[in-house]
Amino acid sequence: MSKFYHITTYGCQMNVHESEKIAGILSDLGYESCDDIEQADVAVFNTCCIRENAENHAFGNIGMLKKLKARKKDMIIAVGGCLPQQIGKAEILHRKFPFVDIIFGTHNLNRLRDMLFAKQHSKKPVIEIDESEGPICEEDKILRTSYPNAWINITYGCNNFCTYCIVPYVRGRERSRKADDILQEAEELVRAGYKEITLLGQNVNSYRDPETGMPFYGLLEKVANIGGKFRLRFMTSHPKDFSEELAKVIARNGKICNLVHLPVQSGDDDILKAMNRKYTRSDYLEKLAVLKKYVPDCAVTTDIIVGFPGETEEQFLNTLSLVKEAGFSSAFTFVYSPREGTVAARMKNQVSDEVSKDRIMRLVELVNAQTREISKTYIGKTVEILCEGYDEKKKCYLGRDEYGRMGYFKSDKNLIGEFVDIKIFDANGVSLMGELMH
Ligand code: SAH
Ligand code: SF4
Ligand code: F3S
Repeated sequence: MSKFYHITTYGCQMNVHESEKIAGILSDLGYESCDDIEQADVAVFNTCCIRENAENHAFGNIGMLKKLKARKKDMIIAVGGCLPQQIGKAEILHRKFPFVDIIFGTHNLNRLRDMLFAKQHSKKPVIEIDESEGPICEEDKILRTSYPNAWINITYGCNNFCTYCIVPYVRGRERSRKADDILQEAEELVRAGYKEITLLGQNVNSYRDPETGMPFYGLLEKVANIGGKFRLRFMTSHPKDFSEELAKVIARNGKICNLVHLPVQSGDDDILKAMNRKYTRSDYLEKLAVLKKYVPDCAVTTDIIVGFPGETEEQFLNTLSLVKEAGFSSAFTFVYSPREGTVAARMKNQVSDEVSKDRIMRLVELVNAQTREISKTYIGKTVEILCEGYDEKKKCYLGRDEYGRMGYFKSDKNLIGEFVDIKIFDANGVSLMGELMH
Protein backbone atom coordinates (compact mmCIF):
# COMPACT_ATOMS: atom_id res chain seq x y z
CA MET A 1 0.00 0.00 0.00
CA SER A 2 1.31 3.48 -0.89
CA LYS A 3 2.11 5.80 1.97
CA PHE A 4 1.29 9.50 1.79
CA TYR A 5 2.29 12.56 3.78
CA HIS A 6 0.97 16.10 4.04
CA ILE A 7 2.82 19.07 5.60
CA THR A 8 1.23 22.35 6.72
CA THR A 9 3.80 25.10 7.13
CA TYR A 10 3.53 28.34 9.07
CA GLY A 11 6.07 31.10 9.66
CA CYS A 12 9.28 32.34 8.14
CA GLN A 13 11.39 31.15 5.24
CA MET A 14 13.47 29.14 7.66
CA ASN A 15 10.39 27.16 8.59
CA VAL A 16 9.43 26.71 4.95
CA HIS A 17 12.92 25.34 4.36
CA GLU A 18 12.65 23.09 7.40
CA SER A 19 9.47 21.65 5.91
CA GLU A 20 11.62 20.70 2.90
CA LYS A 21 13.86 18.82 5.35
CA ILE A 22 10.83 17.10 6.91
CA ALA A 23 9.58 16.17 3.41
CA GLY A 24 13.05 14.77 2.67
CA ILE A 25 12.92 12.54 5.74
CA LEU A 26 9.42 11.30 4.92
CA SER A 27 10.13 10.55 1.27
CA ASP A 28 13.30 8.75 2.34
CA LEU A 29 11.04 6.55 4.47
CA GLY A 30 8.94 5.72 1.39
CA TYR A 31 6.11 8.24 1.81
CA GLU A 32 4.79 10.26 -1.12
CA SER A 33 3.50 13.80 -0.82
CA CYS A 34 -0.23 14.47 -1.30
CA ASP A 35 -2.30 17.68 -1.45
CA ASP A 36 -5.30 16.31 0.41
CA ILE A 37 -4.80 15.80 4.14
CA GLU A 38 -7.67 13.24 4.10
CA GLN A 39 -5.46 10.90 2.07
CA ALA A 40 -2.39 11.26 4.28
CA ASP A 41 -0.95 8.51 6.47
CA VAL A 42 1.26 11.10 8.15
CA ALA A 43 0.31 14.76 8.63
CA VAL A 44 2.94 17.16 9.95
CA PHE A 45 2.23 20.68 11.20
CA ASN A 46 5.38 22.80 11.16
CA THR A 47 4.34 25.68 13.38
CA CYS A 48 5.29 29.29 14.16
CA CYS A 49 4.69 31.43 17.26
CA ILE A 50 6.16 34.81 16.27
CA ARG A 51 2.80 36.51 16.85
CA GLU A 52 -0.36 35.41 18.62
CA ASN A 53 -2.31 35.02 15.36
CA ALA A 54 0.30 32.59 13.97
CA GLU A 55 -0.14 30.47 17.06
CA ASN A 56 -3.94 30.65 17.02
CA HIS A 57 -4.00 29.67 13.39
CA ALA A 58 -1.97 26.55 14.06
CA PHE A 59 -4.06 25.64 17.12
CA GLY A 60 -7.27 26.06 15.07
CA ASN A 61 -6.09 23.87 12.20
CA ILE A 62 -4.77 21.11 14.45
CA GLY A 63 -8.08 21.11 16.36
CA MET A 64 -9.99 20.51 13.12
CA LEU A 65 -8.22 17.16 12.68
CA LYS A 66 -9.96 15.56 15.65
CA LYS A 67 -12.79 14.17 13.51
CA LEU A 68 -10.46 12.98 10.77
CA LYS A 69 -8.32 11.16 13.33
CA ALA A 70 -11.45 9.51 14.78
CA ARG A 71 -12.21 8.10 11.31
CA LYS A 72 -8.61 7.28 10.39
CA LYS A 73 -7.19 5.83 13.59
CA ASP A 74 -3.90 4.77 12.01
CA MET A 75 -3.07 8.20 10.68
CA ILE A 76 -0.09 9.78 12.47
CA ILE A 77 -0.38 13.47 13.33
CA ALA A 78 2.84 15.28 14.24
CA VAL A 79 3.27 18.86 15.45
CA GLY A 80 6.71 20.43 15.31
CA GLY A 81 8.46 23.77 14.98
CA CYS A 82 8.56 26.86 17.16
CA LEU A 83 5.15 26.60 18.88
CA PRO A 84 5.83 23.45 20.97
CA GLN A 85 9.37 24.66 21.69
CA GLN A 86 7.98 27.39 24.00
CA ILE A 87 8.17 26.49 27.67
CA GLY A 88 5.08 24.53 28.73
CA LYS A 89 3.46 24.58 25.27
CA ALA A 90 4.06 20.90 24.46
CA GLU A 91 2.06 19.94 27.57
CA ILE A 92 -0.73 22.35 26.62
CA LEU A 93 -0.81 20.89 23.10
CA HIS A 94 -0.95 17.39 24.48
CA ARG A 95 -3.74 18.21 26.91
CA LYS A 96 -5.82 20.11 24.34
CA PHE A 97 -5.24 17.65 21.50
CA PRO A 98 -4.67 14.18 23.00
CA PHE A 99 -5.08 12.70 19.49
CA VAL A 100 -1.77 14.26 18.33
CA ASP A 101 0.77 11.41 18.10
CA ILE A 102 4.12 13.21 17.92
CA ILE A 103 5.17 16.58 19.33
CA PHE A 104 8.70 17.77 18.59
CA GLY A 105 10.74 20.93 19.10
CA THR A 106 12.97 22.91 16.76
CA HIS A 107 16.11 21.06 17.91
CA ASN A 108 14.55 17.62 17.38
CA LEU A 109 13.75 17.75 13.67
CA ASN A 110 16.54 15.34 12.74
CA ARG A 111 15.02 12.79 15.16
CA LEU A 112 11.76 12.57 13.19
CA ARG A 113 12.62 9.14 11.73
CA ASP A 114 13.13 7.70 15.22
CA MET A 115 10.01 9.38 16.57
CA LEU A 116 7.86 7.89 13.78
CA PHE A 117 9.36 4.49 14.47
CA ALA A 118 8.75 4.86 18.22
CA LYS A 119 5.13 5.89 17.59
CA GLN A 120 4.48 2.88 15.35
CA HIS A 121 5.44 0.68 18.29
CA SER A 122 3.68 2.52 21.08
CA LYS A 123 0.15 3.66 21.88
CA LYS A 124 1.38 6.68 23.84
CA PRO A 125 2.24 9.97 22.13
CA VAL A 126 5.93 10.64 21.54
CA ILE A 127 7.03 14.03 22.85
CA GLU A 128 10.58 15.29 22.27
CA ILE A 129 11.50 18.85 23.14
CA ASP A 130 15.22 19.40 23.54
CA GLU A 131 15.89 22.34 25.85
CA SER A 132 19.61 22.50 25.05
CA GLU A 133 21.36 25.48 23.48
CA GLY A 134 20.57 23.80 20.19
CA PRO A 135 22.61 21.54 17.95
CA ILE A 136 22.88 22.14 14.23
CA CYS A 137 20.17 20.06 12.57
CA GLU A 138 22.02 18.98 9.43
CA GLU A 139 19.76 17.03 7.16
CA ASP A 140 21.07 15.97 3.80
CA LYS A 141 17.87 14.44 2.44
CA ILE A 142 16.24 17.79 1.61
CA LEU A 143 13.25 17.56 -0.74
CA ARG A 144 13.30 20.97 -2.38
CA THR A 145 9.93 22.27 -3.51
CA SER A 146 10.74 25.72 -4.82
CA TYR A 147 12.75 25.22 -8.03
CA PRO A 148 14.40 27.34 -9.45
CA ASN A 149 14.95 28.89 -6.00
CA ALA A 150 16.82 27.14 -3.22
CA TRP A 151 17.47 28.04 0.40
CA ILE A 152 20.60 27.27 2.38
CA ASN A 153 20.77 27.66 6.14
CA ILE A 154 23.98 29.38 7.20
CA THR A 155 23.15 30.20 10.81
CA TYR A 156 20.65 28.86 13.31
CA GLY A 157 19.28 30.62 16.40
CA CYS A 158 19.64 34.19 17.62
CA ASN A 159 21.51 35.96 20.45
CA ASN A 160 19.97 39.40 20.08
CA PHE A 161 17.03 39.18 22.45
CA CYS A 162 15.04 42.05 20.99
CA THR A 163 12.60 42.61 23.85
CA TYR A 164 9.46 41.76 21.83
CA CYS A 165 10.78 38.62 20.17
CA ILE A 166 10.27 34.93 20.96
CA VAL A 167 12.84 33.61 18.45
CA PRO A 168 15.87 33.46 20.81
CA TYR A 169 13.74 31.37 23.21
CA VAL A 170 12.55 28.87 20.61
CA ARG A 171 15.57 28.64 18.31
CA GLY A 172 18.40 28.61 20.85
CA ARG A 173 21.74 30.38 20.69
CA GLU A 174 23.23 31.47 17.41
CA ARG A 175 25.50 28.96 15.70
CA SER A 176 27.08 29.05 12.25
CA ARG A 177 27.52 26.18 9.83
CA LYS A 178 30.96 25.41 8.40
CA ALA A 179 31.72 27.48 5.29
CA ASP A 180 32.97 24.38 3.44
CA ASP A 181 29.62 22.62 3.97
CA ILE A 182 27.70 25.69 2.79
CA LEU A 183 29.90 26.06 -0.30
CA GLN A 184 29.51 22.40 -1.16
CA GLU A 185 25.72 22.65 -0.86
CA ALA A 186 25.68 25.78 -3.04
CA GLU A 187 27.89 24.16 -5.71
CA GLU A 188 25.64 21.11 -5.83
CA LEU A 189 22.55 23.30 -6.21
CA VAL A 190 24.06 25.31 -9.07
CA ARG A 191 25.17 22.08 -10.73
CA ALA A 192 21.64 20.69 -10.34
CA GLY A 193 20.28 23.73 -12.22
CA TYR A 194 18.98 25.97 -9.41
CA LYS A 195 19.06 29.62 -10.50
CA GLU A 196 18.60 31.48 -7.25
CA ILE A 197 20.19 30.76 -3.90
CA THR A 198 19.14 32.47 -0.67
CA LEU A 199 21.42 32.22 2.36
CA LEU A 200 19.23 32.01 5.45
CA GLY A 201 19.67 32.97 9.09
CA GLN A 202 17.97 35.12 11.75
CA ASN A 203 20.91 37.48 11.49
CA VAL A 204 23.19 36.47 8.61
CA ASN A 205 25.59 39.38 9.25
CA SER A 206 26.90 37.82 12.42
CA TYR A 207 27.90 34.61 10.59
CA ARG A 208 31.43 33.36 11.46
CA ASP A 209 32.94 30.24 9.96
CA PRO A 210 33.54 28.03 13.05
CA GLU A 211 36.79 26.76 11.48
CA THR A 212 38.44 29.91 10.11
CA GLY A 213 36.47 32.80 11.63
CA MET A 214 35.60 34.09 8.14
CA PRO A 215 32.83 36.70 8.42
CA PHE A 216 29.61 36.83 6.41
CA TYR A 217 30.86 39.07 3.61
CA GLY A 218 33.69 36.58 2.95
CA LEU A 219 31.26 33.69 2.73
CA LEU A 220 28.92 35.65 0.48
CA GLU A 221 31.73 36.46 -1.94
CA LYS A 222 32.87 32.82 -2.03
CA VAL A 223 29.36 31.63 -2.90
CA ALA A 224 29.10 34.38 -5.54
CA ASN A 225 32.34 33.11 -7.11
CA ILE A 226 30.84 29.70 -7.92
CA GLY A 227 30.72 29.41 -11.74
CA GLY A 228 27.47 29.48 -13.72
CA LYS A 229 24.56 31.90 -14.00
CA PHE A 230 22.55 32.23 -10.83
CA ARG A 231 21.34 34.89 -8.41
CA LEU A 232 22.39 35.15 -4.80
CA ARG A 233 20.27 36.60 -1.99
CA PHE A 234 20.51 36.60 1.80
CA MET A 235 18.20 37.24 4.71
CA THR A 236 17.82 38.58 7.32
CA SER A 237 20.38 41.29 8.08
CA HIS A 238 20.42 43.03 11.44
CA PRO A 239 21.28 46.74 10.98
CA LYS A 240 23.75 46.75 13.89
CA ASP A 241 25.97 44.21 12.08
CA PHE A 242 25.59 45.60 8.55
CA SER A 243 29.12 46.59 7.44
CA GLU A 244 30.82 48.65 4.73
CA GLU A 245 32.70 45.48 3.66
CA LEU A 246 29.36 43.82 2.95
CA ALA A 247 28.23 46.79 0.82
CA LYS A 248 31.52 46.53 -1.15
CA VAL A 249 31.03 42.80 -1.74
CA ILE A 250 27.48 43.41 -3.04
CA ALA A 251 28.80 46.15 -5.32
CA ARG A 252 31.54 44.09 -6.93
CA ASN A 253 29.64 40.83 -7.49
CA GLY A 254 26.99 40.87 -10.19
CA LYS A 255 25.38 37.66 -8.96
CA ILE A 256 24.48 39.19 -5.58
CA CYS A 257 21.11 40.87 -5.99
CA ASN A 258 20.97 44.59 -5.29
CA LEU A 259 18.34 44.11 -2.64
CA VAL A 260 18.86 44.16 1.10
CA HIS A 261 16.17 43.28 3.63
CA LEU A 262 17.15 45.37 6.65
CA PRO A 263 14.45 45.34 9.35
CA VAL A 264 14.29 48.70 11.14
CA GLN A 265 11.27 47.96 13.42
CA SER A 266 10.78 51.63 14.45
CA GLY A 267 11.93 55.14 13.50
CA ASP A 268 12.05 56.40 17.08
CA ASP A 269 15.19 56.27 19.21
CA ASP A 270 13.46 55.64 22.55
CA ILE A 271 11.38 52.81 21.10
CA LEU A 272 14.45 51.31 19.42
CA LYS A 273 16.19 51.41 22.79
CA ALA A 274 13.23 49.78 24.55
CA MET A 275 13.25 47.13 21.81
CA ASN A 276 16.96 46.49 22.49
CA ARG A 277 17.80 46.93 18.81
CA LYS A 278 21.25 48.48 19.57
CA TYR A 279 21.10 51.21 16.91
CA THR A 280 19.50 54.64 16.59
CA ARG A 281 17.51 56.11 13.73
CA SER A 282 20.57 58.02 12.54
CA ASP A 283 22.82 54.91 12.81
CA TYR A 284 20.32 53.14 10.55
CA LEU A 285 20.20 55.96 8.02
CA GLU A 286 24.01 56.12 8.00
CA LYS A 287 24.17 52.40 7.16
CA LEU A 288 21.78 53.01 4.28
CA ALA A 289 23.96 55.88 3.06
CA VAL A 290 27.03 53.60 3.07
CA LEU A 291 25.09 50.94 1.18
CA LYS A 292 23.88 53.47 -1.42
CA LYS A 293 27.42 54.90 -1.76
CA TYR A 294 28.62 51.54 -3.11
CA VAL A 295 25.37 50.23 -4.58
CA PRO A 296 23.39 53.32 -5.66
CA ASP A 297 20.50 51.35 -7.16
CA CYS A 298 20.14 48.99 -4.18
CA ALA A 299 16.53 48.37 -3.12
CA VAL A 300 15.92 48.23 0.63
CA THR A 301 12.99 46.43 2.23
CA THR A 302 12.21 46.30 5.92
CA ASP A 303 10.08 45.03 8.82
CA ILE A 304 8.18 47.46 11.06
CA ILE A 305 6.24 46.94 14.30
CA VAL A 306 3.57 49.40 15.46
CA GLY A 307 2.06 49.57 18.94
CA PHE A 308 5.15 48.48 20.87
CA PRO A 309 4.46 49.09 24.62
CA GLY A 310 4.48 52.80 25.40
CA GLU A 311 4.61 53.93 21.74
CA THR A 312 3.14 57.46 21.58
CA GLU A 313 1.59 59.15 18.55
CA GLU A 314 4.73 61.26 18.20
CA GLN A 315 6.96 58.20 18.27
CA PHE A 316 4.77 56.54 15.65
CA LEU A 317 5.06 59.67 13.46
CA ASN A 318 8.84 59.22 13.67
CA THR A 319 8.36 55.78 12.11
CA LEU A 320 6.26 57.28 9.29
CA SER A 321 8.90 59.92 8.60
CA LEU A 322 11.65 57.29 8.57
CA VAL A 323 9.73 55.24 6.00
CA LYS A 324 9.76 58.30 3.72
CA GLU A 325 13.37 59.22 4.43
CA ALA A 326 14.67 55.68 3.89
CA GLY A 327 12.62 55.26 0.70
CA PHE A 328 11.86 51.59 1.39
CA SER A 329 10.73 49.79 -1.72
CA SER A 330 8.41 47.62 0.37
CA ALA A 331 7.89 46.66 3.99
CA PHE A 332 6.37 43.92 6.12
CA THR A 333 4.28 45.67 8.75
CA PHE A 334 3.10 44.14 12.00
CA VAL A 335 1.00 45.03 15.02
CA TYR A 336 3.01 44.29 18.17
CA SER A 337 1.90 41.02 19.74
CA PRO A 338 2.94 40.25 23.34
CA ARG A 339 4.85 36.96 23.58
CA GLU A 340 4.92 35.20 26.92
CA GLY A 341 8.38 35.11 28.49
CA THR A 342 9.73 38.15 26.61
CA VAL A 343 10.73 41.39 28.36
CA ALA A 344 8.22 43.55 26.43
CA ALA A 345 5.28 41.32 27.43
CA ARG A 346 5.97 42.34 31.05
CA MET A 347 5.95 46.08 30.26
CA LYS A 348 3.02 47.92 31.88
CA ASN A 349 2.03 50.40 29.17
CA GLN A 350 0.62 48.13 26.43
CA VAL A 351 -0.97 50.07 23.54
CA SER A 352 -4.70 49.48 22.93
CA ASP A 353 -5.86 47.42 19.93
CA GLU A 354 -7.79 50.41 18.61
CA VAL A 355 -4.72 52.67 18.52
CA SER A 356 -2.55 49.92 17.01
CA LYS A 357 -5.11 49.23 14.29
CA ASP A 358 -5.29 52.90 13.37
CA ARG A 359 -1.48 53.09 13.20
CA ILE A 360 -1.03 49.99 11.10
CA MET A 361 -3.60 51.31 8.61
CA ARG A 362 -1.78 54.63 8.26
CA LEU A 363 1.56 52.87 7.92
CA VAL A 364 0.33 50.40 5.30
CA GLU A 365 -1.16 53.27 3.30
CA LEU A 366 2.19 55.08 3.24
CA VAL A 367 4.20 51.96 2.40
CA ASN A 368 1.79 51.05 -0.41
CA ALA A 369 1.94 54.54 -1.86
CA GLN A 370 5.75 54.34 -1.96
CA THR A 371 5.67 50.88 -3.51
CA ARG A 372 3.24 52.12 -6.19
CA GLU A 373 5.46 55.10 -6.99
CA ILE A 374 8.45 52.81 -7.55
CA SER A 375 6.31 50.45 -9.65
CA LYS A 376 5.36 53.35 -11.96
CA THR A 377 9.04 54.05 -12.71
CA TYR A 378 9.22 50.56 -14.26
CA ILE A 379 6.75 51.33 -17.07
CA GLY A 380 8.51 51.27 -20.44
CA LYS A 381 11.63 49.59 -19.02
CA THR A 382 12.93 46.12 -19.87
CA VAL A 383 13.85 43.99 -16.85
CA GLU A 384 15.39 40.58 -16.38
CA ILE A 385 13.07 38.15 -14.62
CA LEU A 386 13.85 34.71 -13.29
CA CYS A 387 10.69 32.80 -14.26
CA GLU A 388 9.60 30.82 -11.20
CA GLY A 389 6.02 29.76 -11.75
CA TYR A 390 2.69 29.96 -13.53
CA ASP A 391 -0.34 31.79 -12.18
CA GLU A 392 -3.44 29.76 -13.07
CA LYS A 393 -5.83 32.66 -12.38
CA LYS A 394 -3.95 35.28 -14.36
CA LYS A 395 -2.92 32.70 -17.02
CA CYS A 396 0.57 34.22 -16.88
CA TYR A 397 4.09 33.14 -16.03
CA LEU A 398 5.67 35.02 -13.15
CA GLY A 399 9.05 35.72 -11.62
CA ARG A 400 11.05 38.39 -9.82
CA ASP A 401 13.67 40.86 -10.93
CA GLU A 402 16.84 41.25 -8.87
CA TYR A 403 15.16 43.91 -6.69
CA GLY A 404 12.48 41.41 -5.71
CA ARG A 405 9.66 42.88 -7.86
CA MET A 406 7.19 40.34 -9.22
CA GLY A 407 6.67 40.50 -12.99
CA TYR A 408 3.91 38.68 -14.94
CA PHE A 409 4.00 37.84 -18.64
CA LYS A 410 2.37 35.59 -21.21
CA SER A 411 4.25 32.86 -23.01
CA ASP A 412 3.33 29.79 -25.08
CA LYS A 413 6.39 28.00 -23.83
CA ASN A 414 7.10 26.85 -20.27
CA LEU A 415 9.92 29.15 -19.14
CA ILE A 416 10.14 28.14 -15.46
CA GLY A 417 13.80 28.19 -14.42
CA GLU A 418 14.90 30.54 -17.20
CA PHE A 419 16.05 34.15 -17.13
CA VAL A 420 13.91 36.19 -19.51
CA ASP A 421 13.64 39.87 -20.47
CA ILE A 422 10.22 41.45 -20.22
CA LYS A 423 9.17 44.97 -21.19
CA ILE A 424 6.89 46.46 -18.54
CA PHE A 425 3.68 48.04 -19.87
CA ASP A 426 1.61 48.20 -16.68
CA ALA A 427 2.17 48.34 -12.93
CA ASN A 428 -0.43 47.45 -10.34
CA GLY A 429 0.77 47.96 -6.75
CA VAL A 430 3.71 45.65 -6.22
CA SER A 431 3.21 43.61 -9.39
CA LEU A 432 4.40 44.47 -12.88
CA MET A 433 2.89 43.35 -16.20
CA GLY A 434 5.28 42.84 -19.04
CA GLU A 435 5.67 41.56 -22.56
CA LEU A 436 8.17 38.82 -23.25
CA MET A 437 11.05 40.08 -25.43
CA HIS A 438 12.61 37.73 -27.93
N1 SAH B 1 15.60 37.89 12.61
C1 SAH B 1 14.87 38.79 11.89
C2 SAH B 1 13.36 38.71 11.99
C3 SAH B 1 12.65 37.58 12.57
S1 SAH B 1 10.96 37.73 12.88
C4 SAH B 1 15.31 40.14 12.28
O1 SAH B 1 15.84 40.36 13.31
O2 SAH B 1 15.07 41.04 11.53
C5 SAH B 1 10.31 38.69 11.56
C6 SAH B 1 9.69 39.96 11.98
O3 SAH B 1 8.58 39.72 12.83
C7 SAH B 1 10.57 40.88 12.80
O4 SAH B 1 11.46 41.61 12.03
C8 SAH B 1 9.56 41.76 13.49
O5 SAH B 1 9.25 42.88 12.71
C9 SAH B 1 8.33 40.86 13.60
N2 SAH B 1 8.08 40.48 14.99
C10 SAH B 1 8.87 39.75 15.80
N3 SAH B 1 8.30 39.59 17.01
C11 SAH B 1 7.12 40.26 16.97
C12 SAH B 1 6.07 40.50 17.91
N4 SAH B 1 6.13 40.03 19.16
N5 SAH B 1 5.00 41.22 17.51
C13 SAH B 1 4.92 41.71 16.24
N6 SAH B 1 5.88 41.52 15.33
C14 SAH B 1 6.96 40.80 15.67
FE1 SF4 C 1 14.03 38.33 16.94
FE2 SF4 C 1 15.67 40.35 17.18
FE3 SF4 C 1 16.66 37.89 16.87
FE4 SF4 C 1 15.42 39.09 14.85
S1 SF4 C 1 17.34 39.78 15.82
S2 SF4 C 1 15.12 37.00 15.53
S3 SF4 C 1 13.83 40.27 15.85
S4 SF4 C 1 15.53 38.65 18.63
FE1 F3S D 1 8.01 31.80 13.37
FE2 F3S D 1 9.90 30.34 14.38
FE3 F3S D 1 10.29 31.59 12.09
S1 F3S D 1 8.57 31.66 15.51
S2 F3S D 1 9.03 33.39 12.27
S3 F3S D 1 8.82 29.96 12.47
S4 F3S D 1 11.81 31.22 13.67
